[in-house]
Amino acid sequence: MDKSLRRPVIAGNWKMNNTPAQAKALIEEMKPLVANADCEVVLCVPYIDLYAAMEAAQGSNIKIGAENCHWAEKGAFTGEISAEMLKAAGVPYVIIGHSERRQYFGETDETVRDRVRAALDAGLKVILCVGEVLSERKLGITSEIVCKQTKVALSGVKAEELANIIIAYEPVWAIGTGETATPEQANEVCKIIRELIADLYSKADADRFVIQYGGSMNDGNAAELLAQYDVDGGLIGGASLKADKFAVIVDAASK
Ligand code: PGA
Repeated sequence: MDKSLRRPVIAGNWKMNNTPAQAKALIEEMKPLVANADCEVVLCVPYIDLYAAMEAAQGSNIKIGAENCHWAEKGAFTGEISAEMLKAAGVPYVIIGHSERRQYFGETDETVRDRVRAALDAGLKVILCVGEVLSERKLGITSEIVCKQTKVALSGVKAEELANIIIAYEPVWAIGTGETATPEQANEVCKIIRELIADLYSKADADRFVIQYGGSMNDGNAAELLAQYDVDGGLIGGASLKADKFAVIVDAASK
């Protein structure tokens, strides 16, 4: 099996940061720094920043994504945005199932599955987040939790749709805490996910499937994490808010 079958994806997750004007300024600063990237570069931004971000990124190698979408096409869901709306707005990527959505906004494995379905149906590329909380790691059930989240989210996803999904393995205890998983811990779980994809689909599908690590990845630790065999990129929170730090991570993935 050959890691070069997979093009790394470095995706920023801005979370609830940056106004449209700040989004524009940050992307203008990033553009020249990541122009020679030999990997996919994505920035997932708040809904209100999408237009400004897409305008600023136009003509560059930076792709823009949203941070969530609803499962219904339209209807009485105050405050939500549909996958159709994102597609119509020209947004190519969407994050689904981020642990902050699961933790603070009642997202379940089932609503994640429904949102994945809607996003794929609308023609979006999905960054599906999975990961265990600290108590689950301590109990030794990381693999069980991550496999269950993955299985439910992918139920109903056909093999030919896998090209439009990547998975971000994000141990919740490493998100925003400065406590990164060791490269070995990150690789171990990414490998488990890849083996699950091989079981659910085929080995060839698993070999091509992009699996990111996320959780306090930064300019100092990215190279070592990205060098792991089963780690094909990163979902970056805090370090995606600084152009120079994000560019170092993009460089590390381009090696
Ligand atoms: P972090 O966030 O890099 O700030 O830990 C990662 C994420 O939540 O996607």
